[in-house]
Amino acid sequence: MKYVIGVDLGTSSVKVLLVDQEGIVNYSVSKDYPLIQQHPGYSEQDPEDWVEKTIAALQQLVTESNITPDAIEGLSFSGQMHGLVLLDENNQVIRNAILWNDTRTTPQCKKIDQQLGGKLLEITKNPALEGFTFPKILWVKENEPENLEKTSVFLLPKDYLRYRLTGKINMDYSDAAGTLMLDIVNKSWSADILRTFEIPSTICPPLVETEDYVGTLLPEIAELTGLSSATKVFAGGADNACGAIGAGILSEGTALCSIGTSGVFLSYENDKNKNYGGKVHLFNHGQKDSYYTMGVTLAAGYSLTWFKDTFAKDQSFDSLLDDAAQSTIGANGLIFTPFLVGERTPYADAKIRGTFTGIDSSHQKGDFTRAVIEGIVFSINESVEIFRNYGKTIDTVISIGGGAKSELWLQIQADVFNTRVVKLQNEQGPGMGAAMIAAAGLNWFSSLQECAEVFIKVDKVYEPKPENVQRYKEFYQVYKDVYPHTVAINHQLFDLRNGES
Ligand code: XUL
Repeated sequence: MKYVIGVDLGTSSVKVLLVDQEGIVNYSVSKDYPLIQQHPGYSEQDPEDWVEKTIAALQQLVTESNITPDAIEGLSFSGQMHGLVLLDENNQVIRNAILWNDTRTTPQCKKIDQQLGGKLLEITKNPALEGFTFPKILWVKENEPENLEKTSVFLLPKDYLRYRLTGKINMDYSDAAGTLMLDIVNKSWSADILRTFEIPSTICPPLVETEDYVGTLLPEIAELTGLSSATKVFAGGADNACGAIGAGILSEGTALCSIGTSGVFLSYENDKNKNYGGKVHLFNHGQKDSYYTMGVTLAAGYSLTWFKDTFAKDQSFDSLLDDAAQSTIGANGLIFTPFLVGERTPYADAKIRGTFTGIDSSHQKGDFTRAVIEGIVFSINESVEIFRNYGKTIDTVISIGGGAKSELWLQIQADVFNTRVVKLQNEQGPGMGAAMIAAAGLNWFSSLQECAEVFIKVDKVYEPKPENVQRYKEFYQVYKDVYPHTVAINHQLFDLRNGES
């Protein structure tokens, strides 16, 4: 039997999967690393942590899986999107990476809007949002000019990791699309955007297809991990593109709900010129010459992790969700808005913060947990609504990530989205997409589609229950009212906390 490895470089951990030619996961391991949050709204990581933890995970995989390294033919990556890694002329990291959920760049986004106007949407198909990479580069230019001067190339997180494993510097289109510097239709760096802000085009890395072969492992990495130095490495893609590949979202009419640290509602898009007015993102897919659109909830799984760490540290997620199952639809009248780090879709508001609304002395921990998971799904439903308002039919959704690990959560998705929700067998999130990229790159299959037919199998389908759908519609209307009613006070609080008048 032959094998591939999918490396998913996430926000809270790196997960590596060993997958065989039939799509069976033979071994998986994940290693955590911390977020660095020096100020409210800041979110950084030390790229060295990604490298160390990935090497440790690969070592463990080789030692414990008992598979001969020569049988592991290929490896590819999925990565948290948008994070800015700056390298100097010796390819040394200049500063911590600034991540996708860092929202310090509101002034830079305003400047981009003012100077580029409608041209930005025309070229990148997306508006200027704090999480994207280009505003982060402008932030460094304004606040740490010496760091930009030292920069010889910028990379995204998984591209940096790939560089450290192979010595090759590249960026794939699916991830480059999230920089806000890519002309996504012509698949080239936008000279227009770079010129407008006097950013040297030399800092942009060479672009490759997600499925491209980029090289083999460096001998020292092969030695450290126990893998063969002949292991072929394929570029890999953005985590949402890889999540979509791993769930078989490879043709028109398929949609995905992914609840990881962030929450994403994603739909395959045939038409690169489809116009959602910039309300959802449009990015290059990991499958050549195709696209996807998506809306993003910044703190999805992160909200539940925050809730557990803050109020139920010693309780397991399973037991928390058991408590939530004892509560009712609408959590006995308690509503949570998951705006812990600001919000992307549909508000694009870096200053908004979360709320529990309707707290009553009768509420128990189970009600709060239920409110958190319902609030996350309500927030993702705001993206579903945008797609529907623009005429997309959404009737079946593949669910992946933490939100697909609980029966309760899957049924809540079916009831709130009012769609069939599909759980996959042995669902592994974006890491499976990365493994599929390696499998297709090695020509085990003629295309990702063909690979998906072998690797992806349905486990269970959750149908919406009409009485629950009706009840959730009522609570969702109240949920939607929370933002307009709390936006002013939240902005005031944010400014007070940050010493702004
Ligand atoms: C997408 C986004 C997040 C990250 C999470 O635009 O910012 O989903 O990719 O890793």
